[in-house]
Amino acid sequence: MPIVVLVSGEGTNLQAIIDAAGSDRLPVEIRAVISNRPGANGLRRAQQAGIPTQVIDHTHYLNREAFDTALQALIDQYRPALVVLAGFMRILTTALVTHYRGRLINIHPSLLPAFPGLNTHRRALEAGVKEHGASVHFVTNEVDGGPVIIQVRVPIQDGDDPHRLATRVLKREHDLYTMAIRWYAQGRLKLVDDVVCFDGRVLSKPIDFDQALEMGDNP
Ligand code: GRF
Repeated sequence: MPIVVLVSGEGTNLQAIIDAAGSDRLPVEIRAVISNRPGANGLRRAQQAGIPTQVIDHTHYLNREAFDTALQALIDQYRPALVVLAGFMRILTTALVTHYRGRLINIHPSLLPAFPGLNTHRRALEAGVKEHGASVHFVTNEVDGGPVIIQVRVPIQDGDDPHRLATRVLKREHDLYTMAIRWYAQGRLKLVDDVVCFDGRVLSKPIDFDQALEMGDNP
């Protein structure tokens, strides 16, 4: 299945996708990696893997609409079946989100609907929650508000600070994202109207990553 991955930064989720792509674990071909930031380390990771890269610098566009129109045209050149946001730090316009409805996914470092937006690890610690984690969701017009597919839970430990917690969550994001993308590639995952369908059934709540492992799904 052809995919395009959008990054803005470090690209460790991208790296996990690169490492698994083309195997049974992840039957996808990464057609291109696109970044809005010329210096994004994710671009370097893609280049090292021989994947075509494109930079589309948002600071060169007059407004969000103009940027997203150009971004959409660029993505569509690669004809992806799925567009994967992997640390892409831009809010997308309604037009773009509508264009890719049901084939645009994002990973967010919290147990959505808790803590949408930025600084999720610090906010989780300040709120005193006992567990934190990450979510993969279909993208809709509400920022970090689209239907959640799968989540991984990460217990808060004594002495956690935002950095330590972020490191533990990020490590688990990699297998989480790979699994969700594989399911999509296998046709097991679909967005129907506003709900997630998995193996032909409506999901009443997000899938729990560790439960999926116990049921025999490999990361
Ligand atoms: C991850 O925490 C992801 O959940 C969030 O941005 C971060 C990207 O990290 N959307 P990386 O660039 O994949 O290392």
